Amino acid sequence: MPHDTLSITDNRTGKTYDLPIANGTIKAMDLRQIKTGDDDFGLMSYDPGLANTASTKSTITYIDGEQGILRYRGYPIEQLAERSTYLETAYLIVFGELPTAAQLEQWEFDINCHTLLHINIQRLISTFRYDAHPMSIFISAIASLSTLYPDARDVTDPANRRLQIERMLAKVATIAAFTYRHNYGWPFNYPDDSLSYVGNFLKMMFRSTEVNYRPNPVLERALNTLFILHADHEQNCSTNTMRVIGSSQADPYSALAGAAAALYGPLHGAANEAVLRMLEQIGTIDNIRPFIEKVKSGDGRLMGFGHRVYKNYDPRCKIIKHIAGEVFEVTGHNPLLDVALELEQIALQDDYFISRKLYPNVDFYSGLIYRAMNLPASMFTVLFAIPRTCGWVAQWLEMLTDQEQKIARPRQIYLGPDIRDYVSIDRRG
Ligand code: CMC
Repeated sequence: MPHDTLSITDNRTGKTYDLPIANGTIKAMDLRQIKTGDDDFGLMSYDPGLANTASTKSTITYIDGEQGILRYRGYPIEQLAERSTYLETAYLIVFGELPTAAQLEQWEFDINCHTLLHINIQRLISTFRYDAHPMSIFISAIASLSTLYPDARDVTDPANRRLQIERMLAKVATIAAFTYRHNYGWPFNYPDDSLSYVGNFLKMMFRSTEVNYRPNPVLERALNTLFILHADHEQNCSTNTMRVIGSSQADPYSALAGAAAALYGPLHGAANEAVLRMLEQIGTIDNIRPFIEKVKSGDGRLMGFGHRVYKNYDPRCKIIKHIAGEVFEVTGHNPLLDVALELEQIALQDDYFISRKLYPNVDFYSGLIYRAMNLPASMFTVLFAIPRTCGWVAQWLEMLTDQEQKIARPRQIYLGPDIRDYVSIDRRG
C-alpha cells in the first residue's frame, strides 16, 4: 500500500523517521527532529541557489520547464500574448481573475491617475550624470518613492496595498522613460492618458516635436506582447528578492528597488543587453563557429541560452521570434537577426548544448526587437523591469497574505575558524 510519507533511516543512529509528503515536498523543518543526540541542532538541507527548495506555495504562475509551458493563473501564455493587453494581464496576475469590462476600465483609470512623477523624483533623475546606466537611475528613483509615500509602510491594510500597487505600476513606466530622456539630454515628456499603457510609454520615450504623437500600432502591439511575456516568472532571483525584502514588512518601494537591483545582473534581466553585445561582437555568420568553440572551452557563456527551470525551448522565445519578423517589416531588416538565427541553429545541433539541455531563453531575441525600435542596449533591462513590476507586486501581495510565510531567514553551515583570541595589530604576522 503506498503512503504519502518518506521513510528516512539515519545510519548514524539507526533510527527511522516517517516524514509526510504533500505537493511533492517534505517540510524542511521536519528534518530537524533527526538528531544524533540532545545537543545536536538537527538535520538541515543544504541548497545553494535554492535550486531544489520550494520557498512558497503560489497560485500565480505555472511553469513546466521540461515541456516548455508557461501559464499565468492557468491561462496559457500563448493566448494572453495574442489576445490580451498588458494592463489586463497585470490585473489577472495581481488579482487572480481576468477583469470584467467595468473592472478593467476602473483599473486603467486608477493607474492613469498615478502616472505623473513628483517634481522631486524628476529632479533626482536629472542629477545623475548624463551617461549613468538607466537601470541604476531606475533603481534609485524607485527606492526614493518611499520618501514621498510614507503611507506605504502600512503594509497590513488591504486598501493601502492596492493604492501602492497602482502607484508602482503607473510610476515605473514614467521613471523608465525619464531615465532614457535624461541620458539623451532631452526634456521629459509628460504622460498622456488618452493612450494605452504601452502607447503612453512609447510617447514618453520618443515624442520629439510632434504635437500629435501617435505610436506606430505594430510597434505598440509588439511591445504590449513583450510586456505580457515578461510580466511574471514565478520564483526567480528578483521575485525572490521582492519576497525576501517584503517579508520584513519593509515598504513596497524599497522591496521593488531591491527586486529591480537583482534583475540588473547579467545572469538575470541584463542578459538581453549581454545578448546584443555578444551578437555585435560576433558580427558576421563566419565568426559564429569560433565563438561557439570558445564558449564550449569555458571562455564565457552563450548569452540568451540556458535556464534554471526550462530544459526545453522557452515558450516566450517562440513568441518573440515571431514578433521579431513583424517588427522588422516596419523597421527594416537587421543583419544581426541572421547572426542570431544561425547561432541558434548551430547551438541547437551541438552536443555541448544538447546534453546540457540549453535552449534559447526569453532574452535571446528580445534585444534585437528593442534595437529595431531604436533603443540603446542599456535600456533593455529597464524594459524588462517595467512589466515585471506586476509580477513582483503580485508575489509581494501573495506573500503578505499567506499565513504560512515568515520573515525570510535561511540557515548556514559555518565552516570558519573556531574561537580565537584578538591579537593586537603590532603582533600580527
Ligand atoms: N552557455 C554555455 N554554457 C552554459 C550556459 C550558457 N548560456 N548556461 C549553462 N551552461 C552550462 C554550464 O557551464 C554548466 O556546464 P557544466 O555542467 O559542464 O559545468 C551547465 O550548463 C549547467 O549550468 P548552470 O550554471 O549550473 O545552470 P544554472 O541553472 O545555474 O544557470 C543560467 C542558469 C540562466 C544562469 C545560465 O544558463 C546562464 O548563465 N545563461 C546565460 C545568461 C542568460 O541568458 N540569462 C537569462 C536567463 S532567462 C531570463 C531571466 O531569468 O532573467
